[in-house]
Amino acid sequence: MSSQEGHPQVRTVESTQSEMTEIILPNDTNMLGNLLGGRLMHFIDLTGAMAAYRHARTHVVTAAMDHIDFIQPVRLGDLVTLKSSVNRAFTSSMEVGVKVWAENTRTGAVSHVASAYMVFVAVDEHGRLEKVPQLKPETADEIRRYADALRRREHREREHARRKKAQSETAGLKDAGAIEP
Ligand SMILES: CC(C)(COP(=O)(O)OP(=O)(O)OC[C@H]1O[C@@H](n2cnc3c(N)ncnc32)[C@H](O)[C@@H]1OP(=O)(O)O)[C@@H](O)C(=O)NCCC(=O)NCCS
Repeated sequence: MSSQEGHPQVRTVESTQSEMTEIILPNDTNMLGNLLGGRLMHFIDLTGAMAAYRHARTHVVTAAMDHIDFIQPVRLGDLVTLKSSVNRAFTSSMEVGVKVWAENTRTGAVSHVASAYMVFVAVDEHGRLEKVPQLKPETADEIRRYADALRRREHREREHARRKKAQSETAGLKDAGAIEP
């Protein structure tokens, strides 16, 4: 793993904060005039990547989008604003939180419509893992998110191990002819 020479060893959450606003057009919606979930996930991925790029200052790839809540629909014509920041940096990976609001352009009413946690991994131009700077949480909210990010990483790792075990058990049963391949 190569080091980020010339880059700071520690960054603030503020330095990673990113924001994007989109207007919801007919092509973004379903038959009911609501924003498509996949389109919203695309916006979330892009805004999350912006924060990860600002932290890593190298290439990043999406490793996981592990928790997303669609709280209420976004309507055709609404303005959607997404805000992201890095919650915690590990070795080559970073957890990023993304929060989404919709604004009704006629009434000006703004509502929180979705939140997501994602993991991005820093890589060089050959796809090799890169070490990222550490993150220094400063405010009470940042310190809480920093602590929660470690718990979520541990949960992700347990889930990964559980799925791997289940897959190898299924493969073993298939090999033994106990279940259909
Ligand atoms: C993400 C990727 C680079 C990880 O590579 P890998 O060889 O599996 O790496 P490792 O298992 O050594 O893990 C490297 C880091 O990624 C993290 N990671 C790997 N898979 C992960 C997953 N599914 N969820 C969360 N974190 C993950 C590890 O926790 C580790 O973090 P750390 O260095 O901070 O401790 C690789 O799986 C990949 O290229 N995936 C495809 C990415 C992609 O195409 N995304 C969509 C388009 S951008």
